[in-house]
Amino acid sequence: MATDFPGDYQMACADTPASAAGQRSVGGIDFDQIHDRQQFGSVKWANQWDEFSPRVEGRDLLSLWTADMDFRAPETVIARLREAADHGIYGYTRRDARHYEIVQSWFTRRHNWSPALGTLLPAPAIMPSVAAILRTFTKPGDGVIVQSPVYSPYFEVIQGNGRVLLTNRLTLQDNRYELDLEDFEKLAASGAKVFLLCNPHNPAGKAWTLQELTALNDICERHGVLVISDDIHCDIRLSDRPHIVFSSISDDAAEKSFICTAPTKTFNLAGVPSATISVANKKCRDKLLAAMQATFMVNANFFGRLALEVAYDTGAPWLDQLTGYIAGNVDLVCEFADQYLPGITPMQPDASFLVWLDARELDRRVGGVQKFLVDNAGVNLYDGRVYGPGGEGFIRLNVGCPRALLHRGLERMSKALTSPLIDRNRV
Ligand SMILES: Cc1ncc(COP(=O)(O)O)c(C=O)c1O
Repeated sequence: MATDFPGDYQMACADTPASAAGQRSVGGIDFDQIHDRQQFGSVKWANQWDEFSPRVEGRDLLSLWTADMDFRAPETVIARLREAADHGIYGYTRRDARHYEIVQSWFTRRHNWSPALGTLLPAPAIMPSVAAILRTFTKPGDGVIVQSPVYSPYFEVIQGNGRVLLTNRLTLQDNRYELDLEDFEKLAASGAKVFLLCNPHNPAGKAWTLQELTALNDICERHGVLVISDDIHCDIRLSDRPHIVFSSISDDAAEKSFICTAPTKTFNLAGVPSATISVANKKCRDKLLAAMQATFMVNANFFGRLALEVAYDTGAPWLDQLTGYIAGNVDLVCEFADQYLPGITPMQPDASFLVWLDARELDRRVGGVQKFLVDNAGVNLYDGRVYGPGGEGFIRLNVGCPRALLHRGLERMSKALTSPLIDRNRV
Protein backbone atom coordinates (compact mmCIF):
# COMPACT_ATOMS: atom_id res chain seq x y z
CA MET A 1 0.00 0.00 0.00
CA ALA A 2 1.34 3.45 -0.79
CA THR A 3 2.71 5.28 2.23
CA ASP A 4 2.07 8.88 1.35
CA PHE A 5 -1.55 9.15 2.43
CA PRO A 6 -3.10 10.14 5.75
CA GLY A 7 -1.96 7.49 8.19
CA ASP A 8 -5.34 7.34 9.86
CA TYR A 9 -6.94 6.16 6.67
CA GLN A 10 -4.39 3.41 6.17
CA MET A 11 -5.03 2.20 9.68
CA ALA A 12 -8.73 2.30 9.01
CA CYS A 13 -8.26 0.25 5.85
CA ALA A 14 -6.50 -2.47 7.73
CA ASP A 15 -9.48 -2.76 10.06
CA THR A 16 -12.36 -2.43 7.64
CA PRO A 17 -14.67 -5.36 6.96
CA ALA A 18 -13.14 -4.97 3.52
CA SER A 19 -9.82 -6.32 4.65
CA ALA A 20 -11.40 -8.96 6.79
CA ALA A 21 -13.50 -10.20 3.89
CA GLY A 22 -10.56 -10.38 1.52
CA GLN A 23 -8.57 -12.90 3.45
CA ARG A 24 -5.05 -13.46 2.29
CA SER A 25 -4.05 -16.66 0.60
CA VAL A 26 -6.94 -18.83 1.73
CA GLY A 27 -6.72 -22.27 0.15
CA GLY A 28 -3.76 -21.11 -1.91
CA ILE A 29 -5.65 -18.12 -3.33
CA ASP A 30 -3.82 -14.83 -2.96
CA PHE A 31 -5.91 -12.04 -4.39
CA ASP A 32 -3.45 -9.49 -3.01
CA GLN A 33 -0.66 -10.61 -5.32
CA ILE A 34 0.16 -8.06 -8.03
CA HIS A 35 0.95 -9.58 -11.44
CA ASP A 36 2.60 -8.01 -14.47
CA ARG A 37 0.06 -8.57 -17.24
CA GLN A 38 1.72 -6.47 -19.94
CA GLN A 39 3.92 -9.35 -21.14
CA PHE A 40 0.85 -11.20 -22.45
CA GLY A 41 -0.73 -8.34 -24.35
CA SER A 42 -3.33 -7.29 -21.77
CA VAL A 43 -5.86 -4.88 -23.27
CA LYS A 44 -6.52 -3.37 -19.86
CA TRP A 45 -2.90 -2.57 -19.13
CA ALA A 46 -2.17 -1.39 -22.68
CA ASN A 47 -5.07 1.06 -22.16
CA GLN A 48 -6.22 0.24 -25.66
CA TRP A 49 -9.08 -2.06 -26.61
CA ASP A 50 -7.50 -3.30 -29.84
CA GLU A 51 -5.19 -2.22 -32.63
CA PHE A 52 -8.02 -0.29 -34.28
CA SER A 53 -8.99 1.79 -31.24
CA PRO A 54 -7.49 4.92 -29.76
CA ARG A 55 -5.10 4.40 -26.89
CA VAL A 56 -5.47 6.27 -23.61
CA GLU A 57 -2.13 7.96 -23.17
CA GLY A 58 -0.71 8.94 -19.82
CA ARG A 59 2.31 8.55 -17.60
CA ASP A 60 2.42 5.53 -15.28
CA LEU A 61 -1.29 4.89 -15.70
CA LEU A 62 -3.16 2.65 -13.28
CA SER A 63 -5.64 0.72 -15.40
CA LEU A 64 -9.00 0.44 -13.68
CA TRP A 65 -11.24 0.44 -16.72
CA THR A 66 -12.15 -2.53 -18.94
CA ALA A 67 -13.93 -5.48 -17.33
CA ASP A 68 -11.42 -8.16 -16.64
CA MET A 69 -9.72 -8.83 -13.32
CA ASP A 70 -6.05 -8.83 -12.33
CA PHE A 71 -6.40 -12.19 -10.53
CA ARG A 72 -5.24 -15.64 -11.51
CA ALA A 73 -8.02 -18.06 -12.41
CA PRO A 74 -8.82 -20.93 -10.02
CA GLU A 75 -5.83 -23.24 -9.56
CA THR A 76 -7.85 -26.22 -10.84
CA VAL A 77 -8.42 -24.39 -14.13
CA ILE A 78 -4.78 -23.37 -14.43
CA ALA A 79 -3.60 -26.94 -13.74
CA ARG A 80 -5.89 -28.47 -16.36
CA LEU A 81 -5.05 -25.86 -18.99
CA ARG A 82 -1.36 -26.38 -18.24
CA GLU A 83 -1.79 -30.12 -18.72
CA ALA A 84 -3.55 -29.49 -22.00
CA ALA A 85 -0.87 -26.98 -23.07
CA ASP A 86 1.86 -29.50 -22.22
CA HIS A 87 0.12 -32.17 -24.24
CA GLY A 88 0.98 -30.01 -27.19
CA ILE A 89 -1.63 -31.12 -29.69
CA TYR A 90 -4.26 -28.45 -30.13
CA GLY A 91 -6.51 -30.03 -32.73
CA TYR A 92 -10.27 -29.78 -33.17
CA THR A 93 -12.12 -30.48 -30.00
CA ARG A 94 -15.75 -31.27 -29.21
CA ARG A 95 -18.17 -30.75 -26.35
CA ASP A 96 -19.73 -33.96 -25.10
CA ALA A 97 -22.91 -34.51 -23.08
CA ARG A 98 -21.02 -33.82 -19.85
CA HIS A 99 -20.21 -30.31 -21.05
CA TYR A 100 -23.89 -29.37 -20.96
CA GLU A 101 -24.50 -31.24 -17.71
CA ILE A 102 -21.75 -29.14 -16.13
CA VAL A 103 -23.41 -25.92 -17.33
CA GLN A 104 -26.82 -27.09 -16.12
CA SER A 105 -25.44 -28.13 -12.76
CA TRP A 106 -23.75 -24.74 -12.25
CA PHE A 107 -26.95 -22.79 -12.79
CA THR A 108 -28.96 -25.21 -10.69
CA ARG A 109 -26.54 -24.94 -7.77
CA ARG A 110 -25.79 -21.23 -7.99
CA HIS A 111 -28.97 -19.67 -9.35
CA ASN A 112 -31.78 -22.12 -8.74
CA TRP A 113 -32.39 -22.35 -12.49
CA SER A 114 -32.14 -25.70 -14.20
CA PRO A 115 -32.32 -25.28 -17.98
CA ALA A 116 -33.27 -28.51 -19.77
CA LEU A 117 -30.14 -29.96 -21.38
CA GLY A 118 -31.77 -29.92 -24.79
CA THR A 119 -32.23 -26.15 -24.66
CA LEU A 120 -28.50 -25.41 -24.44
CA LEU A 121 -26.49 -24.28 -27.46
CA PRO A 122 -22.74 -23.67 -27.51
CA ALA A 123 -21.28 -20.30 -28.46
CA PRO A 124 -17.83 -18.74 -28.71
CA ALA A 125 -18.64 -15.76 -26.44
CA ILE A 126 -21.52 -13.47 -25.50
CA MET A 127 -21.31 -10.70 -28.09
CA PRO A 128 -21.04 -13.02 -31.10
CA SER A 129 -24.13 -14.77 -29.69
CA VAL A 130 -26.04 -11.49 -29.48
CA ALA A 131 -25.01 -10.67 -33.05
CA ALA A 132 -26.10 -14.11 -34.29
CA ILE A 133 -29.49 -13.85 -32.58
CA LEU A 134 -30.10 -10.35 -33.95
CA ARG A 135 -29.13 -11.37 -37.46
CA THR A 136 -31.29 -14.48 -37.34
CA PHE A 137 -34.47 -13.03 -35.84
CA THR A 138 -34.52 -9.44 -37.10
CA LYS A 139 -34.07 -7.64 -40.41
CA PRO A 140 -32.07 -4.49 -41.16
CA GLY A 141 -34.16 -1.52 -40.03
CA ASP A 142 -35.83 -3.41 -37.17
CA GLY A 143 -35.78 -1.77 -33.73
CA VAL A 144 -33.88 -3.19 -30.76
CA ILE A 145 -34.43 -1.80 -27.25
CA VAL A 146 -31.59 -1.29 -24.75
CA GLN A 147 -31.67 0.37 -21.35
CA SER A 148 -29.06 3.08 -21.04
CA PRO A 149 -26.60 3.78 -19.60
CA VAL A 150 -25.47 0.33 -20.70
CA TYR A 151 -22.53 -1.76 -21.94
CA SER A 152 -21.55 0.07 -25.10
CA PRO A 153 -20.91 -2.84 -27.51
CA TYR A 154 -24.70 -3.22 -27.49
CA PHE A 155 -24.85 -0.04 -29.55
CA GLU A 156 -22.23 -1.38 -31.94
CA VAL A 157 -23.84 -4.78 -32.41
CA ILE A 158 -27.25 -3.22 -33.11
CA GLN A 159 -26.16 -0.36 -35.34
CA GLY A 160 -23.24 -2.21 -36.91
CA ASN A 161 -25.72 -4.82 -38.13
CA GLY A 162 -28.05 -2.21 -39.57
CA ARG A 163 -30.70 -2.48 -36.85
CA VAL A 164 -32.22 0.59 -35.17
CA LEU A 165 -31.18 1.44 -31.65
CA LEU A 166 -34.14 2.24 -29.36
CA THR A 167 -32.92 3.67 -26.07
CA ASN A 168 -35.02 3.29 -22.94
CA ARG A 169 -33.29 5.44 -20.33
CA LEU A 170 -33.11 4.19 -16.79
CA THR A 171 -34.08 6.77 -14.19
CA LEU A 172 -32.08 7.60 -11.08
CA GLN A 173 -33.75 7.49 -7.69
CA ASP A 174 -31.78 7.69 -4.44
CA ASN A 175 -28.59 6.70 -6.23
CA ARG A 176 -30.14 3.58 -7.78
CA TYR A 177 -31.49 2.95 -11.26
CA GLU A 178 -35.17 2.31 -11.80
CA LEU A 179 -37.12 1.29 -14.89
CA ASP A 180 -39.11 3.73 -16.99
CA LEU A 181 -41.82 1.28 -18.01
CA GLU A 182 -43.97 3.87 -19.71
CA ASP A 183 -41.20 4.76 -22.12
CA PHE A 184 -40.32 1.07 -22.51
CA GLU A 185 -43.87 0.29 -23.56
CA LYS A 186 -43.86 3.16 -26.08
CA LEU A 187 -40.73 1.76 -27.68
CA ALA A 188 -42.10 -1.79 -27.65
CA ALA A 189 -45.31 -0.56 -29.26
CA SER A 190 -43.39 1.34 -31.93
CA GLY A 191 -42.52 -1.96 -33.62
CA ALA A 192 -39.41 -3.04 -31.73
CA LYS A 193 -38.51 -6.62 -32.47
CA VAL A 194 -36.01 -7.37 -29.70
CA PHE A 195 -35.20 -6.20 -26.19
CA LEU A 196 -31.56 -6.68 -25.22
CA LEU A 197 -31.59 -7.06 -21.44
CA CYS A 198 -28.44 -6.76 -19.36
CA ASN A 199 -29.04 -8.84 -16.21
CA PRO A 200 -27.41 -7.91 -13.92
CA HIS A 201 -26.99 -4.50 -15.43
CA ASN A 202 -23.58 -3.24 -16.53
CA PRO A 203 -22.39 -0.58 -15.59
CA ALA A 204 -24.39 -0.21 -12.35
CA GLY A 205 -24.30 -3.86 -11.26
CA LYS A 206 -28.01 -3.85 -10.57
CA ALA A 207 -29.77 -7.23 -10.26
CA TRP A 208 -33.28 -6.92 -11.66
CA THR A 209 -36.06 -8.12 -9.36
CA LEU A 210 -38.82 -10.57 -10.15
CA GLN A 211 -41.28 -7.69 -10.20
CA GLU A 212 -39.15 -5.68 -12.64
CA LEU A 213 -38.52 -8.65 -14.93
CA THR A 214 -42.21 -9.54 -14.87
CA ALA A 215 -43.19 -6.00 -15.83
CA LEU A 216 -40.72 -6.03 -18.73
CA ASN A 217 -41.91 -9.46 -19.82
CA ASP A 218 -45.56 -8.41 -19.76
CA ILE A 219 -44.82 -5.51 -22.09
CA CYS A 220 -42.74 -7.67 -24.43
CA GLU A 221 -45.54 -10.25 -24.46
CA ARG A 222 -48.14 -7.62 -25.39
CA HIS A 223 -46.07 -6.36 -28.30
CA GLY A 224 -44.42 -9.53 -29.59
CA VAL A 225 -40.89 -8.49 -28.63
CA LEU A 226 -38.21 -11.19 -28.27
CA VAL A 227 -35.77 -10.94 -25.36
CA ILE A 228 -32.03 -11.52 -25.40
CA SER A 229 -30.76 -11.67 -21.84
CA ASP A 230 -27.05 -11.18 -21.27
CA ASP A 231 -26.29 -12.78 -17.89
CA ILE A 232 -22.49 -12.59 -18.07
CA HIS A 233 -22.23 -10.68 -14.75
CA CYS A 234 -24.56 -12.92 -12.75
CA ASP A 235 -22.19 -14.97 -10.61
CA ILE A 236 -20.39 -12.54 -8.28
CA ARG A 237 -23.19 -11.77 -5.80
CA LEU A 238 -22.55 -8.74 -3.63
CA SER A 239 -25.98 -8.11 -2.10
CA ASP A 240 -28.81 -10.30 -0.89
CA ARG A 241 -30.64 -9.86 -4.18
CA PRO A 242 -30.61 -13.18 -6.03
CA HIS A 243 -29.90 -13.43 -9.72
CA ILE A 244 -33.21 -14.17 -11.43
CA VAL A 245 -32.90 -15.68 -14.88
CA PHE A 246 -35.43 -14.06 -17.20
CA SER A 247 -36.67 -17.35 -18.65
CA SER A 248 -37.35 -18.74 -15.18
CA ILE A 249 -40.07 -16.21 -14.37
CA SER A 250 -42.82 -17.76 -16.52
CA ASP A 251 -43.46 -20.09 -19.42
CA ASP A 252 -44.10 -17.21 -21.81
CA ALA A 253 -40.84 -15.53 -20.75
CA ALA A 254 -39.01 -18.78 -21.48
CA GLU A 255 -40.69 -19.13 -24.87
CA LYS A 256 -39.56 -15.72 -26.12
CA SER A 257 -36.07 -15.51 -24.65
CA PHE A 258 -32.44 -16.30 -25.39
CA ILE A 259 -30.36 -16.55 -22.21
CA CYS A 260 -26.66 -15.92 -22.87
CA THR A 261 -24.25 -17.09 -20.17
CA ALA A 262 -20.50 -17.48 -19.80
CA PRO A 263 -17.96 -18.19 -17.05
CA THR A 264 -15.59 -15.56 -18.40
CA LYS A 265 -16.27 -12.64 -16.04
CA THR A 266 -16.78 -14.94 -13.08
CA PHE A 267 -13.48 -16.80 -13.35
CA ASN A 268 -11.47 -14.22 -15.27
CA LEU A 269 -11.34 -16.22 -18.50
CA ALA A 270 -12.13 -13.51 -21.05
CA GLY A 271 -9.11 -14.47 -23.15
CA VAL A 272 -10.16 -18.14 -23.33
CA PRO A 273 -13.84 -17.58 -23.99
CA SER A 274 -16.67 -20.04 -24.28
CA ALA A 275 -20.38 -19.42 -23.74
CA THR A 276 -23.78 -21.09 -23.68
CA ILE A 277 -27.16 -19.92 -24.96
CA SER A 278 -30.33 -21.40 -23.54
CA VAL A 279 -33.29 -21.31 -25.94
CA ALA A 280 -36.42 -23.04 -24.66
CA ASN A 281 -38.46 -22.46 -27.82
CA LYS A 282 -37.61 -25.34 -30.17
CA LYS A 283 -38.35 -23.49 -33.39
CA CYS A 284 -36.15 -20.58 -32.35
CA ARG A 285 -33.43 -22.94 -31.14
CA ASP A 286 -33.33 -24.90 -34.40
CA LYS A 287 -33.24 -21.71 -36.42
CA LEU A 288 -30.45 -20.20 -34.32
CA LEU A 289 -28.39 -23.39 -34.40
CA ALA A 290 -28.70 -23.54 -38.18
CA ALA A 291 -27.56 -19.92 -38.46
CA MET A 292 -24.62 -20.51 -36.15
CA GLN A 293 -23.63 -23.63 -38.05
CA ALA A 294 -23.77 -21.71 -41.31
CA THR A 295 -21.27 -19.23 -39.91
CA PHE A 296 -19.13 -21.95 -38.26
CA MET A 297 -19.69 -20.47 -34.84
CA VAL A 298 -20.19 -23.73 -32.99
CA ASN A 299 -16.69 -25.14 -33.39
CA ALA A 300 -15.18 -25.29 -29.92
CA ASN A 301 -11.97 -23.53 -28.96
CA PHE A 302 -9.58 -26.08 -27.45
CA PHE A 303 -8.78 -24.09 -24.31
CA GLY A 304 -12.10 -22.25 -23.98
CA ARG A 305 -14.17 -25.43 -23.81
CA LEU A 306 -11.90 -26.94 -21.20
CA ALA A 307 -11.75 -23.76 -19.10
CA LEU A 308 -15.55 -23.53 -18.99
CA GLU A 309 -15.93 -27.13 -17.84
CA VAL A 310 -13.26 -27.05 -15.15
CA ALA A 311 -14.33 -23.63 -13.86
CA TYR A 312 -18.02 -24.51 -13.50
CA ASP A 313 -17.21 -27.98 -12.21
CA THR A 314 -14.62 -27.06 -9.57
CA GLY A 315 -14.52 -23.27 -9.23
CA ALA A 316 -17.25 -22.61 -6.65
CA PRO A 317 -14.95 -22.37 -3.60
CA TRP A 318 -12.67 -19.97 -5.48
CA LEU A 319 -15.66 -17.86 -6.49
CA ASP A 320 -16.86 -17.66 -2.91
CA GLN A 321 -13.45 -16.38 -1.83
CA LEU A 322 -13.32 -13.95 -4.73
CA THR A 323 -16.77 -12.60 -3.88
CA GLY A 324 -15.63 -11.78 -0.34
CA TYR A 325 -12.56 -10.02 -1.68
CA ILE A 326 -14.54 -7.99 -4.22
CA ALA A 327 -17.10 -7.04 -1.56
CA GLY A 328 -14.18 -5.78 0.49
CA ASN A 329 -12.94 -3.70 -2.43
CA VAL A 330 -16.40 -2.20 -2.95
CA ASP A 331 -16.56 -1.32 0.75
CA LEU A 332 -13.16 0.33 0.46
CA VAL A 333 -14.33 2.46 -2.47
CA CYS A 334 -17.50 3.55 -0.65
CA GLU A 335 -15.74 4.39 2.63
CA PHE A 336 -12.84 6.11 0.89
CA ALA A 337 -15.11 8.14 -1.38
CA ASP A 338 -17.11 9.27 1.59
CA GLN A 339 -14.02 10.72 3.26
CA TYR A 340 -11.58 11.57 0.51
CA LEU A 341 -13.23 11.85 -2.91
CA PRO A 342 -15.18 15.10 -2.94
CA GLY A 343 -17.70 15.16 -5.78
CA ILE A 344 -17.75 11.38 -6.33
CA THR A 345 -20.61 9.17 -5.13
CA PRO A 346 -20.38 5.41 -5.71
CA MET A 347 -23.45 3.33 -6.48
CA GLN A 348 -23.63 0.09 -4.48
CA PRO A 349 -23.62 -2.85 -6.95
CA ASP A 350 -25.63 -6.04 -6.40
CA ALA A 351 -23.26 -8.02 -8.57
CA SER A 352 -19.91 -8.20 -10.34
CA PHE A 353 -16.73 -6.16 -9.92
CA LEU A 354 -17.63 -2.76 -11.36
CA VAL A 355 -18.55 0.35 -9.41
CA TRP A 356 -20.44 3.14 -11.13
CA LEU A 357 -19.44 6.53 -9.78
CA ASP A 358 -21.62 9.59 -9.99
CA ALA A 359 -19.34 12.57 -10.64
CA ARG A 360 -21.70 14.79 -12.63
CA GLU A 361 -21.05 18.06 -10.91
CA LEU A 362 -17.31 17.45 -10.87
CA ASP A 363 -17.40 16.48 -14.53
CA ARG A 364 -18.88 19.85 -15.39
CA ARG A 365 -16.43 21.67 -13.18
CA VAL A 366 -13.26 20.06 -14.59
CA GLY A 367 -14.53 19.74 -18.17
CA GLY A 368 -14.58 15.93 -18.31
CA VAL A 369 -13.76 13.90 -15.22
CA GLN A 370 -12.36 10.82 -16.98
CA LYS A 371 -9.70 12.84 -18.82
CA PHE A 372 -9.06 14.91 -15.72
CA LEU A 373 -8.24 11.74 -13.77
CA VAL A 374 -6.00 10.39 -16.53
CA ASP A 375 -4.08 13.65 -16.73
CA ASN A 376 -3.97 14.58 -13.06
CA ALA A 377 -4.21 11.30 -11.15
CA GLY A 378 -2.71 8.81 -13.59
CA VAL A 379 -5.75 6.52 -13.33
CA ASN A 380 -7.72 5.26 -16.28
CA LEU A 381 -11.42 4.65 -15.61
CA TYR A 382 -14.19 4.25 -18.18
CA ASP A 383 -15.92 7.47 -19.20
CA GLY A 384 -19.66 7.20 -18.52
CA ARG A 385 -20.43 8.82 -21.88
CA VAL A 386 -19.41 5.57 -23.55
CA TYR A 387 -22.52 3.97 -21.98
CA GLY A 388 -24.92 6.21 -23.87
CA PRO A 389 -27.64 8.62 -22.74
CA GLY A 390 -27.61 9.02 -18.96
CA GLY A 391 -23.95 8.09 -18.65
CA GLU A 392 -22.65 11.66 -18.91
CA GLY A 393 -20.71 12.70 -15.83
CA PHE A 394 -20.34 9.16 -14.49
CA ILE A 395 -17.21 7.01 -14.48
CA ARG A 396 -16.91 3.24 -14.10
CA LEU A 397 -14.30 1.85 -11.76
CA ASN A 398 -13.17 -1.77 -12.05
CA VAL A 399 -12.41 -3.12 -8.56
CA GLY A 400 -11.33 -6.57 -9.79
CA CYS A 401 -7.75 -5.96 -8.75
CA PRO A 402 -5.47 -6.39 -5.72
CA ARG A 403 -6.56 -4.08 -2.92
CA ALA A 404 -3.22 -2.29 -2.83
CA LEU A 405 -3.62 -1.26 -6.48
CA LEU A 406 -7.15 -0.08 -5.87
CA HIS A 407 -6.05 1.84 -2.82
CA ARG A 408 -3.23 3.47 -4.75
CA GLY A 409 -5.69 4.51 -7.46
CA LEU A 410 -8.07 5.98 -4.90
CA GLU A 411 -5.27 7.90 -3.23
CA ARG A 412 -4.14 9.32 -6.53
CA MET A 413 -7.69 10.37 -7.31
CA SER A 414 -8.06 11.98 -3.93
CA LYS A 415 -4.87 13.98 -4.31
CA ALA A 416 -5.91 15.21 -7.73
CA LEU A 417 -9.39 16.13 -6.53
CA THR A 418 -8.22 18.03 -3.50
CA SER A 419 -5.43 19.80 -5.32
CA PRO A 420 -5.60 23.60 -5.20
CA LEU A 421 -5.15 23.46 -8.98
CA ILE A 422 -8.82 22.56 -9.44
CA ASP A 423 -10.73 25.67 -10.14
CA ARG A 424 -13.66 25.23 -7.75
CA ASN A 425 -15.48 28.20 -9.16
CA ARG A 426 -15.64 26.96 -12.71
CA VAL A 427 -19.04 25.44 -13.33
C1 LIG B 1 -22.59 -6.93 -20.15
C2 LIG B 1 -21.49 -7.57 -20.95
N1 LIG B 1 -21.80 -8.39 -21.95
C3 LIG B 1 -20.85 -8.98 -22.69
C4 LIG B 1 -19.51 -8.74 -22.46
C5 LIG B 1 -18.48 -9.35 -23.34
O1 LIG B 1 -18.70 -10.72 -23.46
P1 LIG B 1 -17.84 -11.57 -24.47
O2 LIG B 1 -16.42 -11.22 -24.26
O3 LIG B 1 -18.16 -12.97 -24.07
O4 LIG B 1 -18.34 -11.24 -25.84
C6 LIG B 1 -19.14 -7.88 -21.42
C7 LIG B 1 -17.73 -7.56 -21.18
O5 LIG B 1 -17.38 -6.63 -20.49
C8 LIG B 1 -20.16 -7.28 -20.65
O6 LIG B 1 -19.87 -6.44 -19.64
